[in-house]
Amino acid sequence: MGFIFSFIAAAALAGTTPDPASPQAGRALASRSCGGCHAIGARGASPHGKAPPFRQVMQRKSPDDIRQALADGFFVAHPVMPKFVLKPEEIEGLVAYLTTLKR
Ligand code: HEC
Repeated sequence: MGFIFSFIAAAALAGTTPDPASPQAGRALASRSCGGCHAIGARGASPHGKAPPFRQVMQRKSPDDIRQALADGFFVAHPVMPKFVLKPEEIEGLVAYLTTLKR
């Protein structure tokens, strides 16, 4: 019964406005905007041969580095990466999700 209830609650949450700063929203954003090139999960190779899997990036960089790079438009200057304009709360969500990949 509890299981069914939490399933419905999760479905209801997903259907309404999820918090863009949550790791769940960050994961969705990563899979939508980055997953075409980067492996965004705990395993698997990147679709784009030169794009490092996010779990590897997180081993080298701190969440603050990533936050800073996204906020500074680091990716705009990047030769391969498309231009991303992320809202501050989207950056928070992305960083929150990426932090879950860190071991
Ligand atoms: C069109 C393909 C593509 C997409 C889409 C893409 N990337 Fe990348 N990204 C790359 C490639 C290729 C590199 C490596 C470039 C190099 O080292 O010359 C890279 C590098 C990076 C790096 C630097 C890693 C390091 O070694 O410092 C970060 C961080 C990163 N991407 C994050 C993202 C995020 C976050 C998104 C989604 C918002 C994203 N990328 C979307 C292709 C992509």
